[in-house]
Amino acid sequence: MCGIIGYVGPRVARDVVVAGLKRMEYRGYDSAGVAVVSDGRIEVRKKAGKIANLEAALAQSPLPDSEIGIGHTRWATHGGPTDANAHPHVSQNGRVALIHNGIIENFAGLRAELEAEGVGFRSDTDTEVAAQLLGREVGRGLDLAEAMGAVCQRLEGAFTLVALDAEQPHRLVAARRNSPLVVGVGEGENFVASDVAAFIEFTRSAIELGQDEMVDVTPERITVTDFWGRPAASKPYEVTWDLSAAEKGGYDWFMRKEIFEQPTAVFETLLGRYTADGALKLDELHIPEAHLRGIDKIIIVACGSAYYAGLVAKYAIEHWTRIACEVEIASEFRYRDPIITGSTLVVTISQSGETADTLMAIRHARDQKARIVAICNTNGSTIPRESDAVIYTHAGPEIGVASTKGFETQVAACYLLGLYLAQVRGTMFGDEIARVMQELAETPKLIQRVLDNLSPLEDLAGRLVGRDSFLFLGRHVGYPVALEGALKLKEIAYLHAEGFPAGELKHGPIALVDSGVPVFVIVPPQGRDQLHDKVVSNIQEVRARGAFTVVLAEEGDDEVAPFADVLLRLPQVSTILQPLLAIVPLQYFACEVATRLGYDVDQPRNLAKSVTVE
Ligand code: AGP
Ligand code: GLU
Repeated sequence: MCGIIGYVGPRVARDVVVAGLKRMEYRGYDSAGVAVVSDGRIEVRKKAGKIANLEAALAQSPLPDSEIGIGHTRWATHGGPTDANAHPHVSQNGRVALIHNGIIENFAGLRAELEAEGVGFRSDTDTEVAAQLLGREVGRGLDLAEAMGAVCQRLEGAFTLVALDAEQPHRLVAARRNSPLVVGVGEGENFVASDVAAFIEFTRSAIELGQDEMVDVTPERITVTDFWGRPAASKPYEVTWDLSAAEKGGYDWFMRKEIFEQPTAVFETLLGRYTADGALKLDELHIPEAHLRGIDKIIIVACGSAYYAGLVAKYAIEHWTRIACEVEIASEFRYRDPIITGSTLVVTISQSGETADTLMAIRHARDQKARIVAICNTNGSTIPRESDAVIYTHAGPEIGVASTKGFETQVAACYLLGLYLAQVRGTMFGDEIARVMQELAETPKLIQRVLDNLSPLEDLAGRLVGRDSFLFLGRHVGYPVALEGALKLKEIAYLHAEGFPAGELKHGPIALVDSGVPVFVIVPPQGRDQLHDKVVSNIQEVRARGAFTVVLAEEGDDEVAPFADVLLRLPQVSTILQPLLAIVPLQYFACEVATRLGYDVDQPRNLAKSVTVE
């Protein structure tokens, strides 16, 4: 939920840390802070608000040069976003500074214990108990790593912790349970961070840390152990993208850049996963085919946009494989006592691979013996690590908080999975699969065509920028697109926006339609699709009540034209694949409206990119 970075090495640590925080600011931006060690003392600067506030504080009161530093951007859970609650937190005895991502669930008891010993707390955070406990243990003479292990053994909940010691200016320790942490391996310098983006400028060699593991880091040495000091196997990997992927490259927003990266992102996701004759080739799906043939139910679990990608997948998977497919919001999943057996396949979708609700859902499913396939964009993250198999979406880093290419590639990966299951289970003939695959392989070009024709959306955003309520309608796979289009507008433009199944409108929501209310409608392909005419009727129903209709329909569909106040054209494609095209104008519209309203599109209020708390 927040961004964490630690550095040891010859560079000016303060500068490395602030630069790293800026690359991770999308992860949380309630406050930011840095700590360094200089002349045997810990020095901290921290400030509520965005990193710009911290930079202003640093300009006023600079931190000394040092070869060690830690920094944090916060997404507050315990205590308001104030200077005092910002991290790092320093122990009362001044020995250690600590940063934390997650929630320490048993913090109240620990705080009472420390207060009884006379410790005075300076913040309302759960985090400060970890800082005070660590300071106490180090003060009692325990080695820094041993002390960190001992503290972690006492904590419940989710945490990544990074700490430094005033008396050891070339040593960091870090630990993790349920929250992310990667180690960046440099030459004569090392890094720890929530995300490789923080250190990608300096190294692409990384080590992932397993559950309940910690790492002891100096400029020359990296030692990975469990909380009890037992050596743990380190899992090195190379990051496949570089600094330019983590920068805006001339765009005003990451979100806009990522919208325009979608043709490439989908192309990369499909690449190498089918043969020249259109057969599916998912070499990474290490679940025996015999097991996949025995699956009697699929449950997709995910949150937010990834959940909407799952809703699209349901239509495709059921249609192609004839296996019943449920889609569940991850945070609801395990609390409803779902029916899961050894022949259930759980598919989990997560861009970050860190979403706590999703992680907890798959742990629950594993306990019930289900096999888990993750669709994920982040190499080495927790969710793929805890799954039986992973299909990576190759979208490259997604930094805008509102998902765009993440969603698009999740949908593409779901299609691949659906076709693969159909192939393994023989529910489609080879030539049928090849036909769909051929069409899917064409979609990057079609997405590009949509992108080349977005300028009408700019005028439209100008016309609708003062409206405060928007409806989005779709049927079949158009319904999840409507939900996702509405979510974009809520997330970044803070406008009331609802997605509905077009046929459901008359059962209640149509009461919301009033003169001039903008209603976006995704129209299924004409002629080849029985729902087309029904949706055209639904457009007339809202128009009859004064709605301002923005209609997304395929090229050549003239039937809808008379009922559209604004008509946006989509290239022709089969109904099931249409979401890949139809979502693009909706993403762009939200980005345009939010920009015109003067909002920070990449860092919308109250949100964070990866939600690592339940
Ligand atoms: C998308 O625009 C959102 N910011 C959010 O709904 C996101 O999709 C959700 O939190 C899931 O994230 P994940 O894919 O990283 O698991
Ligand atoms: N629970 C901690 C706090 O509220 C850490 C939050 C975070 O992950 O940013 O300060």
